[in-house]
Amino acid sequence: MTTGHIFIAQSLDGFIARPDHGLDWLMKFQVEDDDNGYGDFISSMDCIVMGRGSFLNVLSFGEWPYELPVIVLSNTLSQNDIPENIADKVILSQLSPPELMGMLTDLGWNRAYIDGGQVIQSFLRDDLIDDMVLTQIPILIGKGIRLFGELDRDVDLLHMDTSSAPSGLVSSFYKVVKKPLVLTN
Ligand SMILES: NC(=O)c1ccc[n+]([C@@H]2O[C@H](COP(=O)([O-])OP(=O)(O)OC[C@H]3O[C@@H](n4cnc5c(N)ncnc54)[C@H](OP(=O)(O)O)[C@@H]3O)[C@@H](O)[C@H]2O)c1
Repeated sequence: MTTGHIFIAQSLDGFIARPDHGLDWLMKFQVEDDDNGYGDFISSMDCIVMGRGSFLNVLSFGEWPYELPVIVLSNTLSQNDIPENIADKVILSQLSPPELMGMLTDLGWNRAYIDGGQVIQSFLRDDLIDDMVLTQIPILIGKGIRLFGELDRDVDLLHMDTSSAPSGLVSSFYKVVKKPLVLTN
């Protein structure tokens, strides 16, 4: 079964983007020659799954940054919304998270980078995340799009490692403790 993995940065007050999807507060912490482990992470993935919000924001940057196949979850976008130059790199899907993971398994894509706020929340709710690298950016932005949301149960995390960079970024690696299977007759 394909496993889900998160690599994401949030402001110290828990936001991944401004209300208008702005990422300027994050960009200003980018340091040349230090990718905060992103290169190693992405090279261990087989595909990227993101929601419409993240996809449209990436499109607004101009240059398509991904070499891996990207699956965009959306119930509102159509193939016409995918620019022609990336049409062979993007798969539009309306599948539920469990159905999508089943499709990725059939494709032989074992490790999926799960990205985007709402999409991460729904994969967490469905217990489809194995681990996460969470980078705290030393800034408070006060409002915006939250990384985590409501859950109908606790998600236990196992802290594996934390490192800090001179820029003030603090990155922690957590494994998600999978909920035990409950067998009923
Ligand atoms: N700080 C960081 O490191 C970082 C990383 C990634 C992204 N970001 C930013 O964070 C923001 C994320 O925004 P977001 O939370 O709105 O974006 P998102 O999770 O990327 O997209 C949410 C949209 O995906 C669609 N969707 C389809 N199936 C879904 C499902 N099962 N679960 C959830 N959504 C599903 C829905 O659109 P439809 O209405 O079309 O169905 C929904 O509105 C963006 O601005 C992005 O650029 C920041």
